[in-house]
Amino acid sequence: MMDEQQRRYYLNAMGIENWLPRDMSVSDEVIAPAEVVPPEEETEVVVSAPAMNLNSSHSPGSTGEQHSEVSSAMTGDADIPPWLNEAPPPLDEYSPTIDYADYAEEASAKTDERSLIAGLDWRGLEVKVAECQSCELSGTRSNTVFGVGDREADLMIIGEAPGAEEDRRGEPFVGRAGQLLNTMLQAIGLGRERVFIANILKCRPPDNRDPRAEEALKCEPFLMRQVALVKPKVILAVGRVAAQNLLKSSEAVGRMRGRDYNYNGTPVVVSYHPAYLLRSPEQKAKSWQDLQRAVTLLKG
Ligand code: URA
Repeated sequence: MMDEQQRRYYLNAMGIENWLPRDMSVSDEVIAPAEVVPPEEETEVVVSAPAMNLNSSHSPGSTGEQHSEVSSAMTGDADIPPWLNEAPPPLDEYSPTIDYADYAEEASAKTDERSLIAGLDWRGLEVKVAECQSCELSGTRSNTVFGVGDREADLMIIGEAPGAEEDRRGEPFVGRAGQLLNTMLQAIGLGRERVFIANILKCRPPDNRDPRAEEALKCEPFLMRQVALVKPKVILAVGRVAAQNLLKSSEAVGRMRGRDYNYNGTPVVVSYHPAYLLRSPEQKAKSWQDLQRAVTLLKG
């Protein structure tokens, strides 16, 4: 056990000047720091802020095992955990390396950009799309593909992304899939010029790969604004990419077909992509059903 003189010495070294055991009243004892003297043969105990360098290796009379690591370190026990002796790293090592101000700035820039696009007229939107450099597709495109057709159409067709031919000509659905789409539209009495046709992406993904989520997200304000400007009565989403991105779903087109959806309040009919129908013509009957559903909604 520590004798009283040692105890006072350590308390004093820790900066505790008036410590009383629970059963001792103030009148019984008041520790006066000036009277404290180091115990004989004691290794020096240094308590230095902020490094908390507790360099004592041995404390005569200490019992060891009934102390916690910290208290044994403070009383100078032999098995001081090494980290207690280590000086803390300089303050700037604690400071976050992430600049949260940068994040906030980027987030508010995105919000600003979205609200700017949401306020554009047709001309402004066309220019904004043509100048867009928001993702890497801007580096590989030949042309942006804005969308085409009647800007006051009742029916809006939304596809996936431009392919090679669309990228070359700057117009959506002008390849083989586009020809089939034209035929389908004629079958319901609507020429291509009477609907508005757009895509989830305005730029072609290289090698016709699937659009990436971040690309679709960056392009979304353009399509959103186009829908808001056209104000169609019905949207026909053709293919998985269009349906999933528009409706924030991960379901297969086969499961989404025939269900009621809406995009910001506009009814959406989900159907197969014409390119898929070219590969799987046996699905054309289902596609025809979907077109009939769209016509019913248009009439309603
Ligand atoms: N496929 C689409 O989804 N969009 C086009 O513009 C062309 C092919």
